[in-house]
Amino acid sequence: MKYGYFDDRNREYVITQPDTPLPWINYLGCEAYFGIISNTAGGYSFYRDARLRRLTRYRYNNVPMDSGGRYVYLRDDESKEFWSPSWQPTRNELKDYSCRHGMGYTTIGSSYSGIEASTRYFVPLGENLEIWQLTVTNRRATRAKVSAFGSIEFCLWDAQDDATNFQRNFNTGQVEVEPGVIYHKTEYRERRNHFAYFACSELDAGFDTQREAFLGAYRGWDKPAAVEAGQLTNSIAHGWSPIGAHQVKLDLAPGETRQIVFVLGYHENSVDQKFDPPGSQIINKTTVKPVIAKYLVAAQADAAFESLRQYWEKTLSVFQVNTPDVHTNRMVNIWNAYQCMATFNMSRSASFFESGIGRGLGFRDSNQDLLGFVHMVPARARERILDLASTQLRTGGAYHQYQPLTKRGNNDIGGGFNDDPHWLIVGVSAYIKETGDWSILDEPVPFDNEPGSEVPLYEHLRRSFRYTLDRLGPHGLPLIGRADWNDCLNLNCFSDTPGQSFQTTTNKEGKVAESVFIAGLFVFAGRELADIATRRGLAEESSSYLAEVAKMEKVTLEHGWDGEWFLRAYDDFGAKIGSKECEEGKIFIESNGFCVLAGIGLDDGKAASAMANTGKYLATQHGLVVQQPAYSQYYLNLGEISSYPPGYKENAGIFCHVNPWVMIGETRLGHGDLAHDYYSRINPSAREEIGDLHRCEPYVYAQMIAGKDAPTFGEAKNSWLTGTAAWNYYAIVQWILGVRTTLDGLEIAPVIPKSWPGFTATRTFRGVVYKIAIEREGEGNHIALTVDGAPIEGKVVTPPTDGRKEVSVKGILS
Ligand code: BGC
Ligand code: NOJ
Repeated sequence: MKYGYFDDRNREYVITQPDTPLPWINYLGCEAYFGIISNTAGGYSFYRDARLRRLTRYRYNNVPMDSGGRYVYLRDDESKEFWSPSWQPTRNELKDYSCRHGMGYTTIGSSYSGIEASTRYFVPLGENLEIWQLTVTNRRATRAKVSAFGSIEFCLWDAQDDATNFQRNFNTGQVEVEPGVIYHKTEYRERRNHFAYFACSELDAGFDTQREAFLGAYRGWDKPAAVEAGQLTNSIAHGWSPIGAHQVKLDLAPGETRQIVFVLGYHENSVDQKFDPPGSQIINKTTVKPVIAKYLVAAQADAAFESLRQYWEKTLSVFQVNTPDVHTNRMVNIWNAYQCMATFNMSRSASFFESGIGRGLGFRDSNQDLLGFVHMVPARARERILDLASTQLRTGGAYHQYQPLTKRGNNDIGGGFNDDPHWLIVGVSAYIKETGDWSILDEPVPFDNEPGSEVPLYEHLRRSFRYTLDRLGPHGLPLIGRADWNDCLNLNCFSDTPGQSFQTTTNKEGKVAESVFIAGLFVFAGRELADIATRRGLAEESSSYLAEVAKMEKVTLEHGWDGEWFLRAYDDFGAKIGSKECEEGKIFIESNGFCVLAGIGLDDGKAASAMANTGKYLATQHGLVVQQPAYSQYYLNLGEISSYPPGYKENAGIFCHVNPWVMIGETRLGHGDLAHDYYSRINPSAREEIGDLHRCEPYVYAQMIAGKDAPTFGEAKNSWLTGTAAWNYYAIVQWILGVRTTLDGLEIAPVIPKSWPGFTATRTFRGVVYKIAIEREGEGNHIALTVDGAPIEGKVVTPPTDGRKEVSVKGILS
């Protein structure tokens, strides 16, 4: 069953039933100020870092789920009835409920006893604030006296501390109130120079800043005592739990509409200008007041919304496609690209499944995410690359994560994930292919953020490659370290203590366990690096990389081959993982997908055999599972992978992140039908009809869909922040549609379904607009290209040298 529908023209998903199986969320903000918002207005906001600069509270793992949010209440001041137009938190039965999740905004509205109300939430470009535009219309035949309330609960900044350190935090809360504006200034008196504010466009008929005064003791957000009473109490928070709540009284004629604007924001003062007058404890509001005043004006809010709309129009226009498949079109043109931007902004930090506390920006994650967003925000991709590379260690190794606020490697998790360094090569190569900006390689970049240790970025790539050569195992395959892409294949962990981190506990020396997946990644990244070296005029160096790559390919085909498919790894005892000799975990997706993607075994039939068996043993109607048979018990020598019950997560779940490797593998074998079939099985839009089973948002990918061994086979979890976004985008755009960036130009090499008559696409690439039209004349993948009417040799369209800004590319497939 469906809970809404796609409105592709407006780039919105419209939810028409509030009680979706899980909160279906969206993101507000695309620069520094962010929020998550569910279809019933749940969620929270933060500035840059979801852990360290959390503005508002949200209760994960609570009942009812999705509590804490940007809650608006309406109260009929005659009947005394009150409700929330967003359904939560009061959960009244509403008429015409709809939630429109769009590009960087969400509008939630409904009607109740003849009062129509709708709130549009968004973050203006260039500002550290969010706007809630509440519109209330009286659809009754008589006048209506209505109170409108806007409310939020402040978080005391550090979300971790806020949720644990009550003996202190119940004492520190402080606010200031001026007409229409509540300032949250906890800890401003000491070491913080930032504060939050919650403002309202109408002069208050009342406000509250102490949670207990607003809600009443032993009450929840579903039944605030002050809303019920119809009068906020003008409470001032001293300690406990500061909130922001405003009340506005409306007297609406029949048909009359009023708009109220709420602004929630974050502001910093310079350290020596914190107080006004100096020496007092009062916030200096000189620089914040004009900002607040500006956005409380509805016309200014509308103008900011229009700029946001144009920003997304422009961002998404870089690649637009028209194929015979609606699900492909809307994911590529709208939602998958949008999700890639969310993963760029958030990495894996804040979603309904990621608490914003535990994980910063992953080295592997953020580098590979580049594949999905580099074309939309190349300048910011450049900055991201330099930030990531600055956390690299001299050994070539990398911190697994870094904190976005400090841009420093995160010591809690450390390094030693032996695939990490290669993703830097993959990311940088994707950036240069997109932009042609070779200068990035000469940027001075430190190791571990140490001033004075700077070397050109290119040297970092060299060390990334070297890192594996310095860490080869008994078969000549790469040692796995703490884990490779599969964070849960912990072959050196041997953990028997509850609560120990599988990722950071390492009981073994790590000199035996090897990863065939890293071998595939090494081959892939090594070729990219060799291409870069060649174009930098380093022919000898390039050949040496290719020689190492060839050696690794040979070793992989010899010691990483199981007869019909690629092995996954060797464990600490030197025993095979992912082999027909194993009782469980006989075949894995990662090594097969990635080795074929990297081109290993294409010439001798091994790639074809690997893909055929991957399909035979791992493919299901809901996507391809990680491995088979699932691990039925915990194995000390395998680690977290076997901690999950069969069918979930890395233990034979459908990891949507790695399915694209098989899609790409199939395109390398020329199998467009199968590649697109695999693509469609996990395409969220194509799964919209089975919303009851899938349960997550139908407009974005989830990390995982429960595998065939799970009782809930087909159920998705962990939507939004996942490498799935970038890899699916990359697979469909660059390999199935075949509009591929290369160092020399745009390659056009579609491997599409036989039944497609073709497709058209528009791609802005290095400042030139390419209008691409592909037509099928025969069933194969051979392509003949003409550029502005003239046939060209090969598949790469090189950038025009005569200043043309638009180029027409026609491709005939036969
Ligand atoms: C999850 C992995 C994730 C890892 C990150 C594990 O519990 O299963 O998917 O990458 O945690 O720390
Ligand atoms: C999620 C992590 O973010 C990603 O880096 C990892 O590769 C997968 N889990 C698989 O374990």
